[in-house]
Amino acid sequence: MIPSNIIDDIRFRCEIESTISGYVQLRRAGRNLKGLCPFHSERTPSFTVYPENQSFYCFGCGAGGDVINFVMRMENLDYISAVEYLADKAGITLPSQNSGIERDTGVSRKRILAMNVEAARFYRSCLLDERIGAAGRAYFQERGLSSAIISRFGLGFAPISGTLRHLKSLGFTENEIQTGYFCGKSERGYYDYFRGRVMFPIIDVSGNVIAFGGRVLDDSKPKYLNTSDTPAFKKSKNLFALNFAKKYCENGFILCEGYMDVIALHAAGFQNAIATLGTAITAEQARILKKYASKVIITYDSDEAGQKATARAMTLLEEAGIDAKVLKLQDAKDPDEYIKKFGAEKFRQLIEGSRSKFDYLIEAVTEKYNMEADEEKIKALNEVCLAISRVYSNIERDIYIEKTAKIFAIDPKSIQGDVDRLRRRAVKENDKKRRADLIRNTSGSSDRVNPDFMRQPKAARLEEEVLGMLFLHNELLTEELKDGVLTGEDFSTEFGRRLYVFFESAVQNGGFSIGMLGESFTPDEVSRATRMLLNRSELPKNDGDIFRLYAEQLREETKKAKSSLSIADIINQKRTQK
Ligand code: UTP
Ligand code: MN
Repeated sequence: MIPSNIIDDIRFRCEIESTISGYVQLRRAGRNLKGLCPFHSERTPSFTVYPENQSFYCFGCGAGGDVINFVMRMENLDYISAVEYLADKAGITLPSQNSGIERDTGVSRKRILAMNVEAARFYRSCLLDERIGAAGRAYFQERGLSSAIISRFGLGFAPISGTLRHLKSLGFTENEIQTGYFCGKSERGYYDYFRGRVMFPIIDVSGNVIAFGGRVLDDSKPKYLNTSDTPAFKKSKNLFALNFAKKYCENGFILCEGYMDVIALHAAGFQNAIATLGTAITAEQARILKKYASKVIITYDSDEAGQKATARAMTLLEEAGIDAKVLKLQDAKDPDEYIKKFGAEKFRQLIEGSRSKFDYLIEAVTEKYNMEADEEKIKALNEVCLAISRVYSNIERDIYIEKTAKIFAIDPKSIQGDVDRLRRRAVKENDKKRRADLIRNTSGSSDRVNPDFMRQPKAARLEEEVLGMLFLHNELLTEELKDGVLTGEDFSTEFGRRLYVFFESAVQNGGFSIGMLGESFTPDEVSRATRMLLNRSELPKNDGDIFRLYAEQLREETKKAKSSLSIADIINQKRTQK
């Protein structure tokens, strides 16, 4: 654990309001501040900052916590790294690594980043090595990459063996090297992960080398190996070449599937090209892109998989508020091949004529259905109307309705009528869903954060009150519970028990704050704990009397719950006793 006085110091100097203001535009609303949630896509602000409690909570997605948890989520950092990050900003010196600040693997983000830079240098020097790099150089040459573009992207070559040895010679331990994804471990010991592959470093927007992709030189499988998630890297939150593309994206990004596509595009002068890292685009990545530009042109591979992925990507990007267009490649399987075949100028023309989501939809629908048959035409129109009904802007909807009317030779009023009907239905369904969500969230059924909630709802609710008060007024523990009135055993859900045990030990070690939970709890769990605290903070009475009353009731309820074990529980107990 990081000493609590340091956490306090960080919370004090990195005031939540000003820290969050650096990311989110906040407006005052009474004692609190509101803004558009950076963790999910929304149009009306439900993200709230509570300066009094130095915490935040989003009523839309349930994200919550203190300034540390905010930075963890926002900058995609683990607990220790978030503390380091804030300490660095506030000019606070943290106790050194070996005085207890270690994570599960014992390897820090900093160490991984340092190792990644060394690995990138090593791969590069191998590529340039007369003998070792010959095959890699030949491969790049065959793919048409100039030495300028190779060095711009920092491409390299991983030899059949030697990476592990090299990193060890620089003082990295086997544990560190394995955590950084440069080696695996078998019965026969550690072995290099990337062997005989050309290497593509992945660089984040701050210029850190955070991961690698490595491609085989022939047709063997797997074609690419990638670094899996490490303390310094999360696939779902990074994009290839965003470090370059962010400077060239005034007119939007070009999103493609492969590393090689991106490199070919950059070489041809399209420096706004990016790619996801071997996975479909995520909502997080869409939101990251939105920070830099509001337009994206998708140019995935022309095969079936690529086209399916296009439809999904379009939805995700639009949800993030991005204007997504699609570029369909004719006579080439991907942008890399297209440019090789037809040249950069042709590609530029293609971009200029790239179709909007709507044109794309019309084309897909008219290809799918036979427009000569009435029944099929109706189906096609229904699909188009449904799509139009989901468009947020009135103006945009009107434009599409006009267009559809022309294409299908139908009275725009009829289309308007259908679209309106679909919109009303969607609003109703949305309301229903929202109400159901609300009931589910408060009653706790299918509660992912606290799956035990529904089994003892009464005890679980009391538990949340008790924990909320304790989080808010840590002194309640020391004052009221000196003689062990409440223990972990008095909590009836596993989640409540864990929270209490953590809280108790933090208080005994100098103090507790919500942010510290980030060390042992998931972001969703921290959010739930924050909600408990905020719920209590809105109530006037949180004194010792109230607390004792709730604690007493909780103890009773938990006892009751324990004594009324189900038949299944009893059978299981007997079995374990035998
Ligand atoms: P592609 O096979 O289209 O890659 O996969 P590419 O970059 O065009 O490769 P070339 O042109 O054949 O060299 C698209 C992306 O999917 C991921 C990689 O990120 C790749 O760039 N991928 C693909 C993997 O992660 N693993 C694989 O085995 C294959
Ligand atoms: Mn390709």
